[in-house]
Amino acid sequence: MKITKICCIGAGYVGGPSCAVIAHKCPDVTVTVVDLSQERIDQWNSDNLPIFEPGLEEVVKSCRGKNLFFSTEIDKTIIEAELIIISVNTPTKTYGLGKGRAADLKYIESAARKIAEVSTSSKVVVEKSTVPVKAAESVNNILSANHKHGVRYQVLSNPEFLAEGTAISDLLFPDRVLIGGPQTPEGREAIDALSWVYQHWIPMEKIITMNTWSSELSKLAANAFLAQRISSINAMSAICEATGADVSEVSHAIGTDTRIGARFLQASIGFGGSCFQKDVLNLVYLSECLNLPEVAAYWQQVIEMNEYQKRRFANRIISALFNTVANKKIAIFGFAFKKDTADTRETPSLYICKYLMEEAALVSIYDPKVDHKQIVSDLTDPAVSDKETVDKLVTITTDPYEAAKGAHAIVICTEWDEFKTYNYQRIYDSMLKPAFIFDGRMILDHQSLLELGYHVETVGRRLVRNSVNRLQAMPK
Ligand code: NAD
Ligand code: UDX
Repeated sequence: MKITKICCIGAGYVGGPSCAVIAHKCPDVTVTVVDLSQERIDQWNSDNLPIFEPGLEEVVKSCRGKNLFFSTEIDKTIIEAELIIISVNTPTKTYGLGKGRAADLKYIESAARKIAEVSTSSKVVVEKSTVPVKAAESVNNILSANHKHGVRYQVLSNPEFLAEGTAISDLLFPDRVLIGGPQTPEGREAIDALSWVYQHWIPMEKIITMNTWSSELSKLAANAFLAQRISSINAMSAICEATGADVSEVSHAIGTDTRIGARFLQASIGFGGSCFQKDVLNLVYLSECLNLPEVAAYWQQVIEMNEYQKRRFANRIISALFNTVANKKIAIFGFAFKKDTADTRETPSLYICKYLMEEAALVSIYDPKVDHKQIVSDLTDPAVSDKETVDKLVTITTDPYEAAKGAHAIVICTEWDEFKTYNYQRIYDSMLKPAFIFDGRMILDHQSLLELGYHVETVGRRLVRNSVNRLQAMPK
């Protein structure tokens, strides 16, 4: 089977960058990314891409208009392609059965129905969205129940492991590519066809093939394991704060054990992003449906710990500020869920703002990439606050110095590199005293800040200045 045209349904954080890299690396293949949203497609075709991702613009510009296209002509693109990648969103359900936990598969289903409706030739259909185990069976059922004479489908699972902020390097140099498919001659042929695409830049030994259900579950498992590491180190951070141990030292100590490994052991104000919570909840729901309540409870605890960490950090701010933040200006540095992205989905910063606003704090938000409209839209979500409260309590600035001016405290919510380079003397001079910094990402030089006169609090470590101005853990 020769692949000359690929159609990707869904021009989001995954569809856009992953197909741009495929087009960039496979000049002999035409890749068209389609979406229902005209606005999103127009942005992909403009100089102002809809998502910020280091290196993305260069990759898009290298092949857009040559073998990479963005379009709303969904039917035509499906008809022409031999391989169709489904990369639509699979958010947590907000209604009905499984509300708040199960993945909402309505976009997957509508993509599958569209493929069945318009296809006039056989296709390889690739599930790239993150889905519950056995979702490929539903896609297959929809396709085969509606197939036309002579049209056959092979459904593969090819989950995406990119992380935002590093998407392009993750796509160019992945740890592995996973392809799951039916263990039949036709299934193997489809797996080989998709594998051929990746082999343009990825060594064979990094392309792992397996059965469809293992592949679907592996994606949920990978995110659950990563999220669990963060919740585990955050649980340790609470013990550190209560005892005088230092979570960075604990991370280092356990991370040097090669069986544990050093990555994803950074204590924080909790994980955010569109994937971890959604996918762990998805796994919890799946376990419940499989009548495995102990397994469900085990993974649910990863989410509980994350909620606890966000709430605990907000409570520390309030208690350090003499148990009241009402009418106090508090500067929030960072609104994105991590650095190098403008994505705010499930950002812990939003929860910190929400908890502080519930205590009537005046929050002044600065983020280098997230735009004003997005911040207002997130804060006025009914689950967070309302327009009247936001108008009264929130200011959004494009200047961090302005955000901190006259503030009682600065709260670092995102680990943007630029936060490390500010003139903290100038900021200190403009703040009310005592001036507090709550470093929720452990990125600043705490000793220098203490020397400037700040009261510094961070995650998993208690700080005091001793007589020779050296940091030490505070004795119990
Ligand atoms: P997204 O919301 O950014 O993009 C999804 C796009 O699909 C939207 O633009 C939407 O308009 C479009 N869409 C929905 N239904 C459609 C249809 N029937 N026809 C055409 N277009 C349609 O989502 P995302 O962040 O790119 O995530 C996509 C999938 O990839 C999800 O399952 C997610 O869990 C998974 N994933 C995401 C990441 C990440 O970092 N964001 C990483 C790995 C996997
Ligand atoms: C994640 C997975 O890493 C990726 O493989 C998957 O495809 C999508 O979900 P993403 O959410 O984009 O990627 O970013 P990631 O780097 O995993 O960070 C998620 C959250 O965890 C962020 O809020 C980050 O700040 C936080 N985090 C990460 C920590 O708090 N500590 C860490 O040690 C690592």
